[in-house]
Amino acid sequence: MTRSRHWPPGPRYAAAVSSTVATVALGHPDFPAGDARRARCQIVVVDGPDMGRAAAIAGAPVLVGTDPTCDLVLRDPRVSRKHLRIETGPEGQFTIVDLGSKNGTLYQGAALGQLAVPAGGVLRLGHTTLRIQPEPAALAIEPSRSRRFGELVGESLVMREVFAVLELAAASDVAILLEGETGTGKEVAARAIHGASGRARAPFVALDCGALPESLVESELFGHVKGAFTGAMQARRGAFARAHGGTLFLDELDSLPLALQSRLLRALEARTVRPVGGDDEVAVDVRVVAASQRDLAAAVAAGTFRPDLYYRLSVLRVALPPLRARREDLSITARALLTARGLDVGEIDGPGLARLAAHDWPGNVRELRNTLDRAVALSPGARTFADLRLDVPGDSSTADDELSVRADLPYAEAKQRLLHAFERSYLRDLMARSDGNISAAARTAEVDRKHLRTLLRKHGLVPDGDDG
Ligand SMILES: Nc1ncnc2c1ncn2[C@@H]1O[C@H](COP(=O)(O)OP(=O)(O)OP(=O)(O)O)[C@@H](O)[C@H]1O
Ligand SMILES: [Mg+2]
Repeated sequence: MTRSRHWPPGPRYAAAVSSTVATVALGHPDFPAGDARRARCQIVVVDGPDMGRAAAIAGAPVLVGTDPTCDLVLRDPRVSRKHLRIETGPEGQFTIVDLGSKNGTLYQGAALGQLAVPAGGVLRLGHTTLRIQPEPAALAIEPSRSRRFGELVGESLVMREVFAVLELAAASDVAILLEGETGTGKEVAARAIHGASGRARAPFVALDCGALPESLVESELFGHVKGAFTGAMQARRGAFARAHGGTLFLDELDSLPLALQSRLLRALEARTVRPVGGDDEVAVDVRVVAASQRDLAAAVAAGTFRPDLYYRLSVLRVALPPLRARREDLSITARALLTARGLDVGEIDGPGLARLAAHDWPGNVRELRNTLDRAVALSPGARTFADLRLDVPGDSSTADDELSVRADLPYAEAKQRLLHAFERSYLRDLMARSDGNISAAARTAEVDRKHLRTLLRKHGLVPDGDDG
C-alpha cells in the first residue's frame, strides 16, 4: 500500500487539515465562535425569527434561504428558498448576490442585485436582519512545554497548544466544549480537566446525552421524585445533583433534544435543578464540560442546536485533532498506551512505526489502542516494539478501502471501518464524476454542500483551492 492511495499528497493534505484542525477559539457572548483559522467573518441573524443563528463566511460562498440545504437556514416565510449568496470579495469586502428572491434584499434601504458590502454591513430580507460581523480571534496561547495532560499525550505543536488551553481551563471554572472525531480523547480530556481543577476531590459525573431516550435523559440530568412516572419506584438524584461541587461531563451534547436544551440552559443559568415530578428547585454547583463529535456551530446555523445554550457552554472551545493530522505523535502515543498496559518496549520506531504512520486511523487513538492491545495479546513474551505482531489495518493485502466485514474486530470498530471505507470509496467516485466540483457533487449525492465538504475534509479529499 502506498500512502498516496490513502491520502492525497503533501500540499493538498496540508490544505485539507489546516481548515479542520482548529486549535482553540474563545467564545464571545454575542455570537458563536467559529474556527478562527478558517473564517474571519460570519453572517449572523441579529433580528427576526432565527435571531442568534449564524454561519461562518470562509472561502466558499455562503447560501442563505429557507431551503434546508442552505448554509444559513432561515424560517422567515418572507425569505425565498435560495434567497442570497455571500462571497468573500476583494479588500475585505463581501459580495452579496440576490438570487432572484421574491421579496428582495435591502442594503441601506435600497434593493440590491449584486453589491460589495464591507464587514459590519447590515442586510434586510423579509422580517430578518443579517449582519456580517468579524469572528473572535483565535487565542494566542503559547504551546505547553508539557507533552502530556492527564492521560493525553502528544508532542506535536497542535497537541501542545491544546494542552496549554486545557491547563488554563482547568485552573478556571468556565464551561468548556470539546470537539473532535470519535476516539480523539474528549472524555479523557474532560476527566483530566476535572483532575487538574480545584474540584478534583468532588465527583466527576459523565452523562451520555445520545445514549438514552428523551424521557430518560431528563430524569438522568435532573433526577426524579418517587412516582414521577411509571416505574419510578424510588426517588433518584440526577447527574447535576450527583456532580455537586464537581464536574458534570455532558457527552454527545449535539444529540440532546431541543426541548431538553432549554431545560438544561435554565438549570445552568439559575444554578438550580427541579427533579422530574417535583416542585422544589435544588441548588447545584457544577462545572460543565461538554463534548460533541459534530461541529456545534454548524448545528446552530442549521437550527438544530439552541444558540443561547451554545454560547453558554462554549465559553472555551477546544478542538481535539484527529490522529492522522498529527502522525508525529504516533510514537509517543503508542509508547504511552503500551506502558499503560504494563509493557515498556522502549523506543517505537523502525518499520513498525512506518506501518502505523501509513494508516489513516479513522477511529483515532482508540483504534490505535485496540491495534496495540491485539498485538500484545498475539505476542506473548515480546520485549521490544519490533517483537510485537502488529496487524495494522489496511497494510497487507486487505487495503482499508476494501469494503470487507471483519468479525475478528470488536463490533463497533468493524462497523466504523466499514463505514469509513464506504465513505471514502463513495466520495472518490463522486468527486471523480463531478470533476472535483463540490456543488455539483453535493447535488448528485443529494447532500448538503457543507456536510459534503466536512466529509471530504475528513478523508483528506478536499479539491485544491477549496479550503472553505
Ligand atoms: N492524546 C491521547 N493520548 C493518549 N491516549 C489517548 C489520547 N486520545 C485518546 N486516547 C485514548 O483513546 C481512547 C479513547 O478516548 P476517549 O474515550 O476520550 O475518546 P472520545 O473522544 O470520547 O471518543 P468518542 O467520541 O467515540 O466517545 C482512550 O482509551 C484514551 O485513553
Ligand atoms: Mg467519548
